[in-house]
Formats: sequence, structure tokens, C-alpha cells
Amino acid sequence: IKNIGVLTSGGDSPGMNAAIRAVVRASLYHNLKVTGILRGYEGIIHADFIPMDGKSVANIIQRGGTILKTARSDAFRTKEGRELAHKNLVESDIDALVVIGGDGTFTGADLFSREFNFPVIGLPGTIDNDLEGTDFTIGYDTAINTVVNAVDKIRDTAESHDRLFIVEVMGRDSGLIALRSGIGVGAEAIMIPEAKIGIADIVSRLENGRKDKASKIIIVAEGDEAGGAYNVGEALKGKFPNYDIRISVLGHIQRGGKPSCMDRVLASRLGVAAVEGLLAGKTDVMAGQVNREIVFTPFSHAIKHIDAEKITPAWLRLVEILSL
Ligand code: F6P
Repeated sequence: IKNIGVLTSGGDSPGMNAAIRAVVRASLYHNLKVTGILRGYEGIIHADFIPMDGKSVANIIQRGGTILKTARSDAFRTKEGRELAHKNLVESDIDALVVIGGDGTFTGADLFSREFNFPVIGLPGTIDNDLEGTDFTIGYDTAINTVVNAVDKIRDTAESHDRLFIVEVMGRDSGLIALRSGIGVGAEAIMIPEAKIGIADIVSRLENGRKDKASKIIIVAEGDEAGGAYNVGEALKGKFPNYDIRISVLGHIQRGGKPSCMDRVLASRLGVAAVEGLLAGKTDVMAGQVNREIVFTPFSHAIKHIDAEKITPAWLRLVEILSL
């Protein structure tokens, strides 16, 4: 391997810049060339390549977003798109890839590396934390801290007005952002797709809860079958006359901001591991961290969502105990 291409793809996540920096610096450390690819797979298809050096990644470890930009590419989903991408890489002497993203990114990477026998390693860059083969994805820690900071503020006003707030958080079809941030803010209830709790259960839980609470907070994962915070608000209307109901959808603030130290360190460690993994002949795998160790997991396995059975019962019990 002589020239590694690096890209970010799919939804951005805090820590992607730290990952890019680590890939660039580890490549230079091993005397490899390293090329930045703009806007994910779209950048390969349009040959949007920029040479990177040590300086091009200076002062980015602390920045949210991604200096390489990101996109979701429809063209790369087609065989013709991937053929063009392969031709562009070969013509520019890029002979390996590090792709930073989530399950969509890895689905494309898996196809591409097998179709063209092209070395590709992935780094888990998504706030959703929904990948197998890593305890945490890059961006998750920052995102849940963003949620916690926002909901702490909501709690102040909810407490002052005796209000019940329904707060919707991201995660696509995963409830992991809701689960951890919900525990972190002391939520009265958490609705996540993995648990299928349902409105009736939430109502009885709140009815049976302590009556002297000034505020109540329900965290709803966007992927929950209840269909989002507004639907939950409709369903709860009139059921709790002591509380005024308000809705808050946190949205894309969850994706931005300075990465936490945990995310910066994870990204840095995995970025170096990806380059050294490529040099050791690994391909078609994601570099992740499990029980503090670096592990490489085939893309096809990484994109299978974390087994809900493994995570929900014990965690939900915790929510119930702590919301008394
Ligand atoms: O995958 C990251 C994520 O932020 C999800 O949590 C969310 O469902 C989705 O991306 C939103 O995507 P977009 O930025 O395209 O609206």
C-alpha cells in the first residue's frame, strides 16, 4: 500500500475530524501518501481528491463536523457508480481506503472491497452507536452529552412550571441515545424501539409514579413505534391535568459541537489502527474498540444492529428503579 484515501460519509458526527487527523498522521508516520476525498463516495465518483499532509489536519481535533464534508451517495449504490469510482481511484494511484461513517457507509464499502478486491477499512463514525464490533461509535459520547446538557436546561423550566416534557432524540432506528441520555438526565420514562413500551404502559407508569414531582421528562427515541414526540404528546393529552405538556425535538444540535475527550481519543486510536490494519493486510472490516481492545469486525457483521435483547432488560429496569 502506497497511498491511502480517506473519506467521511453519511451523517456527520463529532470526532470525525479527529479520526481524519489520525489517519493522515499515521499514514505519514508509515511513509505513505494520504489523499483526502471530498463528500464521501460522491467525491470518488467525481474524483474530488486533495493531497493531505501533516499541516492539513492541524487544529482540527477539537472541531465538530468534518473538514472533508460528507454526503449520502445514490450513485455509489449502483454498479456503474462503483465502477467509475474504482477507475478514478486507480487513475489517481489510491490503493486503499479508510471510510468513516455508519451502516450505509459500510454497506457500500463491503460491496466495493469485494467487487474490486480493494483494501478498505472502516471507522465507526455515527452518533447512533448502532454498530456491532465496537462498544462505542465516534460521536456517541458527545451526542449524549449534548442531549444531557439540553435536557438539564429543559428540566429547569419544567420544574418551574410544573410541566411534563416529551423530548425527542435522534438515533434512527436505535434507542441507544435515548437510553443513556435518559438515564443521565433522570428521565421519568424512556421510549425506545428495542423495548416496545407503548403509550399505555407509559401512562400507567406515570400514574403510579410519585405525585409530588414538579416535573416529568419522557425521552422518546425518534425510531420508537410511538411515532415521535408530537404523537406521544397527542396521546397523553388530558391524561395528566396536573401538568402542562410541552414538546421538544432536539434535532441536529445532537450532531454538532466540539467532540468530547472520549470521542477524540477513540477516533485517534481507531484512526491509527485502521492504517496499521491496512498495512497488516486487513480489509473489508471495521476497526472498533471492545473492552478497551482494538478489534476488527467484518463490515457485514458490523452493520447488524446491536442485539436489543442484550441491552434492554437490565437497562430498562435501571430506569424504572431510578425514576421512583
Ligand atoms: O445517523 C445519524 C442521524 O443523525 C440519525 O440519528 C438521524 O435519524 C439521521 O442521521 C438524520 O439524518 P439527516 O441529517 O439526513 O436528517
